[in-house]
Amino acid sequence: MLVLGFESSCDETGVALIEVPSDRSQGAPRLLAQALFSQISMHQAYGGVVPELASRDHIRRVLPLTREVLAEAAVPLAQVDVIAYTQGPGLAGALLVGAGVAVAMAAALGKPTLGIHHLEGHLLSPFLSADAPEFPFVALLVSGGHTQLMRVNDVGSYEMLGETIDDAAGEAFDKSAKLLGLPYPGGPHLARLALNGDAKAFDLPRPMLRSGKPDFSFAGLKTAVLTQVKRLGEAPTEQQRADLAAATQAAIVEVLVRKSLLALKETGLKRLVVAGGVGANTMLREQLNAACGKRGVRVHYPELSLCTDNGAMIAMAAAMRLQRGMADLQNDGGFAVRPRWTLGSA
Ligand code: KG4
Ligand code: ZN
Repeated sequence: MLVLGFESSCDETGVALIEVPSDRSQGAPRLLAQALFSQISMHQAYGGVVPELASRDHIRRVLPLTREVLAEAAVPLAQVDVIAYTQGPGLAGALLVGAGVAVAMAAALGKPTLGIHHLEGHLLSPFLSADAPEFPFVALLVSGGHTQLMRVNDVGSYEMLGETIDDAAGEAFDKSAKLLGLPYPGGPHLARLALNGDAKAFDLPRPMLRSGKPDFSFAGLKTAVLTQVKRLGEAPTEQQRADLAAATQAAIVEVLVRKSLLALKETGLKRLVVAGGVGANTMLREQLNAACGKRGVRVHYPELSLCTDNGAMIAMAAAMRLQRGMADLQNDGGFAVRPRWTLGSA
């Protein structure tokens, strides 16, 4: 079977084609081709994602990217068996573009569609790497909108262990970066600035570090960064900015590592999967590897390029559902996007 997947929930248009042996004994799904267009430079002028601009740009990109993917895989569109798309959560207008194109294309081909949860895509993205994890595992999902620790028993069986009560880790990176005058999305820029900084130069809070539960709060950190930025005044030195960036990153990473260890201890599992954009952070990877290595825990990451939003993870989630007979295929031409949608809810 061939699955075409679309991602359009935020500011990346992603398309991918995956080949799926219908029987799991015949092997794992295989990525044939993928293409991605990031709208980041368009939104940078506004300091964040402008939903209406995002929707319009998805419309412009989705068909050329699809043509590119099919050409690279040398597969005619008519051979595609299932069209998957991100059904939610995300920006309503942006989701509607991917969903609308998927359903229209499927109707024209007489093939079914499959709506996928964006976070399930992130969770299952490490299965696209050569070193795929085995179930069950603890997942640390750290994206721009979500920070959650989950027990993943199998595809579709997710138990929430803890989540953020306010800002997500990615948001903490992005908002702090903005306060430091860095462009959107700030996470990677802040990490780069932090390379030359001394994390000990500022004493920033680690909210809920000792709550004893695997949940998070990052809003206080942003406020603390704001206080320091004000204290530094109009013209902070490059070193002061780098120090504050390093201290911010250290605070976020320490909380993420400690809470992951707590979730591993609670579940007794020895496998950790890190997914979502913040999973690309080098310091987070180094510290998780060190802490987990000492405890005999294997850590799996998606390939760096697949940490942030992409079409491959959506096609992969669809493929894994199809192989397990868990795909709720639709072919009535109707669709409903779900901008707010909790993973695990019906
Ligand atoms: O998963 P993702 O692409 O989008 C959502 O579904 O939200 O995650 C985007 C987030 C942004 O907040 C971005 O700043 C952050 O991931 N991010 C990073 C890094 N790369 C991306 N944060 C810290 N360090 C990075 N290297
Ligand atoms: Zn995402």
